Amino acid sequence: MSKSEERLSTIPKALYFDEDDRFFILDQTKLPTQEIIEEQKSLEQVYESIYKLKVRGAPAIGIAGAYGLVISLKNSLDLEIEPFLKLVNKNARYLSSSRPTAVNLSWAIKRLFDIANSFPKNSTAKELYAKLRDEAIVIHQSDIQTCRQIGEHGAELIKEGDGVLTLCNAGALATGGIGTALAPMYVAWSRGLRFKAYSSETRPLLQGARITCWELNKFGVDTTMIADSVSSYLMKLGRVDMIVVGADRVANNGDTANKIGTSSLAINAKFYGVPFYIACPYSTIDTNSKSGADIVVEERGKEELIYIKGQQIAPKDIKVFNPAFDVTDNSLISGFITEKGIIRPPYNFSK
Ligand code: MRU
Repeated sequence: MSKSEERLSTIPKALYFDEDDRFFILDQTKLPTQEIIEEQKSLEQVYESIYKLKVRGAPAIGIAGAYGLVISLKNSLDLEIEPFLKLVNKNARYLSSSRPTAVNLSWAIKRLFDIANSFPKNSTAKELYAKLRDEAIVIHQSDIQTCRQIGEHGAELIKEGDGVLTLCNAGALATGGIGTALAPMYVAWSRGLRFKAYSSETRPLLQGARITCWELNKFGVDTTMIADSVSSYLMKLGRVDMIVVGADRVANNGDTANKIGTSSLAINAKFYGVPFYIACPYSTIDTNSKSGADIVVEERGKEELIYIKGQQIAPKDIKVFNPAFDVTDNSLISGFITEKGIIRPPYNFSK
């Protein structure tokens, strides 16, 4: 193993599935102060972990959805195939509804759902269960590969001394591997390239402050945290050479849903002439959504804005608008860093 490979293998993991078919996640709501691994034992628990963002980030929730479906079936292997199939379909629909924007969740669950529905009807529940478990493992393993490839392609864009800005967390903890937006940084840094990473805090849930800063810092990347409102000034100062963020769903024309605040970053980047990249796997591209207008943006509860860590910071009865994501227009995106290489405009992914 090369030195660079060795370093990359130390990056923390969002989730794992063990040889006894047990599924574990790192509870990301507790970061950066506590590192708590939690076993997921039921369908409801996995739903809640996804909804509450204990496990989060588009590829990671896809994998969590697949493993979640598998563990929800573990205690029903004595059923006849028909009722077992009904259970698979019911649980798959339920888990898919835990978060609406990241397409990876419904994509991964549909892969299992399709296998179940075309499985020979004379099989046993045990046989179908084994097939679904193996498919969930394949989804996870191929995400590990994909992240590495995104890292390789994206690392080519970073030059010695650059300032690289990111928002939210599209790192290892948002995927099964080394991340999407952070993967190029990890690969470049592990090979000795030196640059400055900037992590925007990402209000309201602070994924940038709590998770990206934690991940990058742990790896030794030179990281500076900024308040979300600082990004445009940072660009004006000439300290940002490139912005790279992840994606929750990319429409066929390249319009991209990602963490709220992404669109304003991209608009500012255009103004200041800073290249703006989306790093994502092909599983995040939804060719069924023609444009951003087809993407459902998740709205979350008002308490996420009114309280910070249980501390009330605004009147309890204030009206709140709290979309978790926004949609960035394709015209603002310099390229998509994918496992197949960097895709440049004009975008038409179904071609
Ligand atoms: O609400 P979150 O924390 O799940 O939002 C995550 C993001 O917006 C990420 O950028 C996106 O899912 C890509 S993760 C590789």
